[in-house]
Amino acid sequence: MSRRTRIVMLGPPGAGKGTQAARLATRLGVPHVSTGELFRHHVGTDTALGREADAYMRRGDLVPDGVTLSMVAERLTAPDAAAGAVFDGFPRTVAQAIALDQQLAANGHALDGAVLLEVPRDTLVARITGRRFCAQCQATYHLEWSPPAVADHCDRCGGDLRWRADDDEATVARRLTVYETETFPLVAFYETDHRLWRMDGLGSVDAVAARLEEVLARD
Ligand code: AP5
Repeated sequence: MSRRTRIVMLGPPGAGKGTQAARLATRLGVPHVSTGELFRHHVGTDTALGREADAYMRRGDLVPDGVTLSMVAERLTAPDAAAGAVFDGFPRTVAQAIALDQQLAANGHALDGAVLLEVPRDTLVARITGRRFCAQCQATYHLEWSPPAVADHCDRCGGDLRWRADDDEATVARRLTVYETETFPLVAFYETDHRLWRMDGLGSVDAVAARLEEVLARD
């Protein structure tokens, strides 16, 4: 079992970052820090930050770095993040990655590394279009591969399951393009100083989770 507790989950939309990050964070006893979920919470509670982020998210564009970085910096000051975090959807630009390294270093920590989940495009689209999430507790389902026990209701809290507002075909295409141009350069960023683990993201959720544990246990 890995003792690494500061890990970035990297990969295109639908790669399974959120699914695996939630499981890994629970296993490690550290928070799952998903910038997408933090933004959706702000949108749902109609904060000023949420109103600013909403327009970018609906288009499939990235929220500006300044807004994202101050939100993450605040999240990392919470006591539960002292022992580490599994980052999901963050960083998404080289500027965000540099800022994360700096914030961790300022607190005497370092990122253990980034895991790149590799999944072909047709599978990404199938995963995203079948996704549903719980409006109450944010748990994620897939209509075919991880369906809820009772249709349209969350197994965990009974909340209503919904589509994500940015999961329509046109916005997904835009998100995939934005990933290629703005986020994919992080692969070289982390590879350069040997902090990147590439792994196959295909297979069942359990199979990918087992592969992830093997990757993180490597020297
Ligand atoms: P965000 O919420 O981070 O979305 P994303 O990166 O596009 O990723 P997804 O959540 O779509 O996919 P995932 O890889 O987490 O897959 P999941 O596990 O859900 O960001 C949304 C938006 O917020 C961005 O577009 C941007 O506007 C903004 N934003 C967020 N962070 C930002 C940042 N740092 N900077 C600027 N802007 C930012 O799985 C997908 C589906 O597949 C689910 O249904 C799941 O059940 C299923 N599934 C997962 N694994 C498997 C498997 N092994 N087998 C079968 N099905 C599976």
